[in-house]
Amino acid sequence: MFRTRITELFGIEYPVLGGCMQWITGPEFTAAVSNAGALGIMSSAMFPTQEEFRAALRRLKGLTDRSFAVNLNLFPALRPIDNRLYAEVILEEGGVAAVETSGHRPPEDIVAMLKGGGLKLMHKCVNVRHALSAQKAGVDAVTLFGYEGGGHIGDVSTLSLVPRAVDVLDVPVIAAGGIADGRGMLAAFSLGAEAVLLGTRLLMTRECPISGLVKENLLTAAETDTVPLLGSVHNTIRVIRNQAAEKAAELESAGADFQDILAIVAGSNTRSMLERGEVDLGVLACSQSVGIIHDIKTVREVLTEMVAEAEAIARRLASADRV
Ligand SMILES: Cc1cc2nc3c(=O)[nH]c(=O)nc-3n(C[C@H](O)[C@H](O)[C@H](O)COP(=O)(O)O)c2cc1C
Repeated sequence: MFRTRITELFGIEYPVLGGCMQWITGPEFTAAVSNAGALGIMSSAMFPTQEEFRAALRRLKGLTDRSFAVNLNLFPALRPIDNRLYAEVILEEGGVAAVETSGHRPPEDIVAMLKGGGLKLMHKCVNVRHALSAQKAGVDAVTLFGYEGGGHIGDVSTLSLVPRAVDVLDVPVIAAGGIADGRGMLAAFSLGAEAVLLGTRLLMTRECPISGLVKENLLTAAETDTVPLLGSVHNTIRVIRNQAAEKAAELESAGADFQDILAIVAGSNTRSMLERGEVDLGVLACSQSVGIIHDIKTVREVLTEMVAEAEAIARRLASADRV
C-alpha cells in the first residue's frame, strides 16, 4: 500500500482524490468516494445559496464519517460566486477536512479565513507559476492538472507538468489529468506525485449519479473523442465529442458571437444531459483517458484494482532486468 504525505495529511486509505465535478459531486457521490477510501471533494458551486450549501454539507456529514473536502470554484462563472459565503458555512458547520480551490490564484482573505479556522487547503491549477503562488499563499498541497484531463485545462501535459512542479515545490504534489488506472497511478508516483486525482474514471462507476446512457456512451469513446473548447476566450475546457461540442467548436472557429456559443455550453444543458441521458444535448468535461476505461465498477473496485495494478507493476519492474 502506498503511504504518502497526502494519505497522512487527510487520513485516507488510498492516495487518491475524487475530483470535484459540477452537477455530479454532491453529498451522495462525495460520500461514496470517501467511503471507498479516497478523499471525496464536494462541489460548492452546485448550491446557489448559503442555506442550500449548508443543507448539502450537513447531508454529506450524515453519509460518511471519513475525511472529505469541499471545492471552491474560482473559474469565471455565469453566476458570480462569492466564495466567502461558502467559507463562512464551512467554518460554522465544521467537519470538513480540507478545502480545494480551483481556477485562479486562491484569494488571500479566504485562505487566511480558512487557515485561521484550522482547515487544510489545496489548490488545483494547470501551470507551475500558479502552483508556486498557491504555495506562497499557504496551501498544504497542490494539484497539477495536465492537458489530457477533463475540464478546465492548460497547455502542458501531465507527464511534463508534474515532475516540473515536484522539482520546485516543497508542498506535496497531486497529479491529475489522464490518470484512470494503475499504470497512470504508478507513472504519477514515478514523477514524484504523492497522490492522484481522478475525474473521468469516476464518471463510469455505479455510484456516479448520472444517467446510465451517458456512462454507456462514454464507454464507447476512444482517446481521440474529446475536444478542447473555449480557447478563444482563454477558458479552455476539454469535453467529450458529441453534437453539442461539435456545434460549439464550429461556432468558435467561425468567430461567432460568444452568446451563441454560450447557449450551447451552458451548464443547464449539461445538467439536463446528465439527468435525462440525452447524450448530445450539452457539453460534458471528459479526459483523453476515456479511451482506456471499458467498464462500470463500484468506486471501491476502481480504487482497489488501481492500487493492486500499480503495486504489481512496481514489483515487476523492480525484479525485471528488462522492461
Ligand atoms: C464531468 C466533469 C466535471 C468537472 N467539473 C469540475 C468542476 O466543477 N470544478 C473543478 O475544479 N474541476 C472539475 N472537473 C475536473 C476534475 O475535478 C478533475 O480535475 C479532472 O477530471 C481530472 O482529470 P481526468 O478527467 O483526466 O481524471 C470536472 C471534470 C469532469 C470530468
